[in-house]
Amino acid sequence: MNDEKTVGELWDKFHTSEEKHYISDNPLKTILDLSNINEEFEDAKTVIEIGVGTARCSKEIVNQGKELHCVDISTLALSKVARIAQWSYLSEYMNHIPKNYFDLVIEFLVAPHISDEELNRHLKYVIPSLKEKGTFSLQITFNRDPDLNNQNIQNPITLISGLSCRTPEYVTSMIEANGGEVTWVSDPNYHDTLNLGWHTMKIRRV
Ligand SMILES: C[S@@+](CC[C@H](N)C(=O)[O-])C[C@H]1O[C@@H](n2cnc3c(N)ncnc32)[C@H](O)[C@@H]1O
Repeated sequence: MNDEKTVGELWDKFHTSEEKHYISDNPLKTILDLSNINEEFEDAKTVIEIGVGTARCSKEIVNQGKELHCVDISTLALSKVARIAQWSYLSEYMNHIPKNYFDLVIEFLVAPHISDEELNRHLKYVIPSLKEKGTFSLQITFNRDPDLNNQNIQNPITLISGLSCRTPEYVTSMIEANGGEVTWVSDPNYHDTLNLGWHTMKIRRV
């Protein structure tokens, strides 16, 4: 069993009703405000959400009249959006995402939970799925201790805990290697209690 499979099994467990601890429940407005993508959302007809959590945001996206596609590592997560998503994809089948199709991609609180190999796969398939003027909004987490960033974390428990920390520079080089360009990076935001911070980035297809 490889590490990604172990991580997938852990996520399935956390998506059951008793084990909600790691499944965040961010409302759409929070994600749009923190990612500075209100305008992009307003204009978007087609949206893909990577990492659906409780599906709260997914439902709100559909209620705003958008065509929604969803990606998650967990079949249980995708079962929450089965009735509302136009299509949903397990992350291992992301290669089936249509190319040149989405106005907006939202990936919020997912990158801190995945290895570099998995983030590279996301970038490889998500960037070409953008329309020419489409925007990929990506949230990343960094550690305030510089020695704890960019370590290509593989340990399932560390990944589940959201401690895969990266600097914007490191992620930018991954984005550029996958045919994307960073058009905007937020100022750093800092966690109240942990030694962590985070940025949101906007990416376009080159
Ligand atoms: C912390 S929750 C974030 C949920 C939502 N985006 C939010 O901000 O409320 C992380 C979500 O990402 C999913 N996930 C974890 N690894 C993933 C992967 N490799 N590809 C896609 N989704 C993944 C989890 O199953 C979970 O639904």
